[in-house]
Amino acid sequence: MFDLDIFDIKLNTDYIGRNFIYADEVSSTNTLLMDKKSGYNVNGTVMLAEKQTKGKGRKDRVWQSEPNSNLTFSILLTKEELLFKKPNLINFAAALSIANSIENLYQLKTELKWPNDVLIDGKKISGILLESASQGSTIERLVIGIGINVNQNSLQGIFNYPPSSIRIELGRIVEREKLLAEFLNNFEALLEKIKNDKGDIIEDWKAKCRMIGEKISIIENEKEKFGIFYDVDEEGFLILKTKDGLEKIHFGDVGLG
Ligand code: BTN
Repeated sequence: MFDLDIFDIKLNTDYIGRNFIYADEVSSTNTLLMDKKSGYNVNGTVMLAEKQTKGKGRKDRVWQSEPNSNLTFSILLTKEELLFKKPNLINFAAALSIANSIENLYQLKTELKWPNDVLIDGKKISGILLESASQGSTIERLVIGIGINVNQNSLQGIFNYPPSSIRIELGRIVEREKLLAEFLNNFEALLEKIKNDKGDIIEDWKAKCRMIGEKISIIENEKEKFGIFYDVDEEGFLILKTKDGLEKIHFGDVGLG
C-alpha cells in the first residue's frame, strides 16, 4: 500500500502533486493525463498507478514494473508558457531531481545517461517519457512520465540497459512515499529555476554524466553512429565528435563504443 498520509506530510510544493490521483490499475498514467477528455486538466496534477497494463517506455518500448513495489507516475503541466518554451530542459530537470532525491535520501551515488536515464553503478534505475500536445506551434499540454525501480527485488524482461532497483543497490526496502515527495519537492524547485532563468540545469546535468568525453555508439533512426560524446548543447542535444566533425544528435540510445 501507498500511505497517503506519509506522502502528504512530506510534500512541500505549491502546485506539483497538490492534485494527486492514486490508482490501482490504469492503462498508462501518461496516456490518461495526455487525454484532455479524461477530465484531468489541473496544472501540476500527479497520477500514481500501482499497475499499468500498457506502461510505455521510450521508442515504443514497454515499461515493466511489479505492482506495489515501485513508482510509476506522471505529472501534467498545462498553461506554463515559460516552461513550454524549453521542453527539453524539463526532461533534464526531471532526471536531475530523481538523481538528487536518491542521493539525498539514501546516499547512493547516481549517474545520468543521455537523454534521460538515471543509473546507479551503471544500471538503470529510472526512465522518463515526456509527451506533449500542441496547438499550432504552441505546446498546450505536457506530461512527464516517470518510472523508478524502487523495491522490486529482481527484474526480468527485455531492457535497453541492464536494470536494477534502489532496494537491490541499497540492500533494504525504502519508503516510496518519502521518495515521491522528495522528488516532487526538488522537481518543482528546478521548474521555478527554469521559469526564472536561474541556475544552469544543463551544466548540473553534465556534472553527473560520466559518459562525456568517452567513445560511444549511438543508434539514431535505426542507424548506428560512432564517435566521442563531445558535449550537450544548451537545448539538450548530444554533440557527437566523429571523423567528419561535430554532429548534433536529437534522439537515440547511447552505448559505450
Ligand atoms: C524509458 O526509459 O523508456 C521511459 C520509461 C517511462 C515509464 C513511465 S511509468 C509512468 C509513465 N506512464 C507510462 O506509460 N510511462 C511512464
